[in-house]
Amino acid sequence: MPFTIGLVGAGQFADSFAPLFRRHPLVSGVWVTDTIPARADRLVAVHGLDGTIRSFDDMLDDCRIDAVAIFTQRWTHGPLALRALRAGKHVYCTVPMGITVDEIGAIVQAVAETGLTYMMGETSYYNPATVLARDKVAAGAFGDLFYAEGDYIHDMDLGFYDAYRFSGGEDWKRTASYPPLLYPTHSIGGVLGAWDTHVTKAVGVGVRDTRGDGVFDRAVSMFDNDVSNATALFEVAAGGSFRTNEFRRVGYPSHIRESRFRYFGTEASFEQVATAAFWYTREGAQDVSAQVRTTATLDVDDPQLAHIAPELRPAFVSGYAPVHDRARIPPALATLPNGHEGSHHFLVDDFATAVASGTHPPVNAWKAARFTVPGIIAHESVRRDGERLDVPDFGSAPGS
Ligand SMILES: NC(=O)c1ccc[n+]([C@@H]2O[C@H](COP(=O)([O-])OP(=O)(O)OC[C@H]3O[C@@H](n4cnc5c(N)ncnc54)[C@H](O)[C@@H]3O)[C@@H](O)[C@H]2O)c1
Repeated sequence: MPFTIGLVGAGQFADSFAPLFRRHPLVSGVWVTDTIPARADRLVAVHGLDGTIRSFDDMLDDCRIDAVAIFTQRWTHGPLALRALRAGKHVYCTVPMGITVDEIGAIVQAVAETGLTYMMGETSYYNPATVLARDKVAAGAFGDLFYAEGDYIHDMDLGFYDAYRFSGGEDWKRTASYPPLLYPTHSIGGVLGAWDTHVTKAVGVGVRDTRGDGVFDRAVSMFDNDVSNATALFEVAAGGSFRTNEFRRVGYPSHIRESRFRYFGTEASFEQVATAAFWYTREGAQDVSAQVRTTATLDVDDPQLAHIAPELRPAFVSGYAPVHDRARIPPALATLPNGHEGSHHFLVDDFATAVASGTHPPVNAWKAARFTVPGIIAHESVRRDGERLDVPDFGSAPGS
């Protein structure tokens, strides 16, 4: 059954999703709220949405709204998602699910009690490399997986300064120091999006920032954080381990590929770098780069992108890769801007399908917790000089 949705936060990322929600055949109305009303007005005008709502509280009270989609700053998600669920709304939430184990546990409990749909919008779950690895796992081609690696490599100088200025206003340096391991899902989500296991223990190592520009400065940081690059090693219940990197000061072309993955099994392995990907067996290496490469479906000059700054447009044009099951995407979405290696269309379609059918999406509350909690614990390990810590697990979705 079609449903209505309220977007919470009309900043930079909501622009990518407003047209997709508006055109999805299972979504019958899209409203917007932002604490800066002019941003909500702009989003409605640019994308022809149904209207603005004064505040998040008003949106929760509004019986026209069936679901909310949270596009607010990354440290704000947990409490907003919980309040929305408790108000009877389905929730789509950008990453991360939360920044404390308690707020994540409360969301899992709320979903279990209410039966509402919760989905975390993890783009790496639909990253072509993750999709390829997931297909190979399903076919048993790896043998037993025992080790993997996931990187989310996004240098501060490649867009993050401007993004944090827009996001944080005059006080932006307080929030630009957001700890890398509290944004762990683009790396963990690609590993555990293919390897069906969960983390039991974590160790984290951080690199103190040396730029000296007052961003990663504990005296300024609202997160008391001076770490800009961090690495975590996780033990998993299936036996084995994986390592993730969350780098924010790194000489690397993240506009070419910012999330990258490697998986090692007893029979085969898969490895992806910035511009290539390989499938390995004992016999040799097969170049599978073409299978995981997205083809742009829009030109950067397409009128649909006119409201986006020219230098940001490349992020909105990625289409699908051959490994993507593009046939399942409703035709109304297929020609719209996409992004993050083809993931945006799948995110919106999985959420819409789950809400309309009363089911749990692939990255449901339980899976989202497994993508997020290990990073929170690894960050704690960094702060405790690399202490090896237990990672709590909330289990898997009922029936999965
Ligand atoms: N690959 C990815 O999955 C990916 C990529 C980019 C951004 N994101 C996530 O998307 C989210 C949004 O990112 P962004 O760059 O658009 O942030 P942003 O700071 O540009 O926008 C956030 C907006 O939310 C509004 N807001 C904050 N609290 C609110 C509230 N209580 N009620 C209503 N409005 C509120 C702010 O005024 C702001 O306009 C972030 O959490 C980020 O982590 C994910």
